[in-house]
Amino acid sequence: MEKVKVAVIGCGGISRAHFNGHLECPGSEVVYCVDVDEAKAREKAEVIGCKWHTDYLQVLDEVDAVDICTPPHLHAEMTVEAARRGKHVLTEKIMARTLNEARWMIEEVERAGVVFMVAFVLRYRPEFQTFHEACREGRIGEIRQAYIHTQMMLGRPPAAWRTDPYKFPMGAFLSHGCHYVDQLIWSVGEIVETSNVGHALTLGDVIPGGDDTNCAIFRHENGAVSCYVESWAIPYPVGSIRFEAYGTKGSLQLLYHMDGKRTVRLRDQEGDRQIFEFDPSKKDHMDAFGGAKDMQGQIAHFIECVQQGKEPITHGREGIKAMQVILAATAAEKEQRTLNVQEFVNRPENLAPWDEAAFRAWVEQEYNWPRQ
Ligand SMILES: NC(=O)c1ccc[n+]([C@@H]2O[C@H](COP(=O)([O-])OP(=O)(O)OC[C@H]3O[C@@H](n4cnc5c(N)ncnc54)[C@H](O)[C@@H]3O)[C@@H](O)[C@H]2O)c1
Repeated sequence: MEKVKVAVIGCGGISRAHFNGHLECPGSEVVYCVDVDEAKAREKAEVIGCKWHTDYLQVLDEVDAVDICTPPHLHAEMTVEAARRGKHVLTEKIMARTLNEARWMIEEVERAGVVFMVAFVLRYRPEFQTFHEACREGRIGEIRQAYIHTQMMLGRPPAAWRTDPYKFPMGAFLSHGCHYVDQLIWSVGEIVETSNVGHALTLGDVIPGGDDTNCAIFRHENGAVSCYVESWAIPYPVGSIRFEAYGTKGSLQLLYHMDGKRTVRLRDQEGDRQIFEFDPSKKDHMDAFGGAKDMQGQIAHFIECVQQGKEPITHGREGIKAMQVILAATAAEKEQRTLNVQEFVNRPENLAPWDEAAFRAWVEQEYNWPRQ
């Protein structure tokens, strides 16, 4: 396959970064911009120079792959429809609303034999790759502890889909934290045990599906312990992303600074030094559109996997792991104890086949929804 013909489905906020990634990728050709909102589909198509449509089902015959940038409640349905028609799928996180729905996606793409990738974009950014390689190459020895702290303020009012627990039965931890739990799994090791405390004191009135702030702790299979402290309800952040790992031979620190710089620092017996720097004031660090090269690696990996029939490093089987851990952590908080992740995953309600009607009944009970 020379160029992979792609339909980008959903032309809202995150799609811009995906389009940038496709434009920079020689193996990709966006042939359709799709959005139920015709104006959005048209606007993106004019920039890209391609066709547009309001119904994704109508364009599947003309593409090799879909890049799904719609809200979470549509990821599974769109993935399954595309896979059943032999199309490769890249879907935005969070992969699905529940573990059952995510498993349904995995079963369907495996049955169809198509490439399936979840957009855990951080795995494809150079600073996170530098951090990961240093961990995995043993540059800090055996990892004993790790820590991630993220802080931001979600725009108000939030997108309408975030205000409806049928569409978004979650909060910051699952929606945003999935990136960082995925990082802990990727760089530190599989997570076996968890507990959590959180609240929704700031945004609970507008996002009823879950927390806006939480502190979770994890035990990893290799014995390391880690902690994820996050909020998307901090109006005056003093930082952005901070990721640290401490090992028997050294320590690593990845920082997103307030001025836009990103650095990775290594401290060991050789001293204290910077092993990565991204500086937005340096032109060669930026993409053609004046942004950080954040999406290019991800899109390039997807296209390469489609062209070469390879399995993406963030296949759905990998993408579901962060969901399993976060949902176990959330259950642990509710049950006021520490939970073993695998035991949680194996609960009958999590192993049941996907059933939209049962899911809606669960939302009605769990959230007293729709509220009277
Ligand atoms: N990786 C990241 O860092 C990151 C950041 C932001 C958002 N996201 C994820 O991206 C997804 C979209 O988020 P967003 O902020 O772009 O949302 P958004 O609301 O800005 O955009 C979603 C778009 O999907 C369109 N849409 C809705 N139903 C559709 C349908 N049936 N067919 C075609 N288009 C349809 C909407 O009209 C809208 O334009 C979410 O899953 C979100 O979690 C990821």
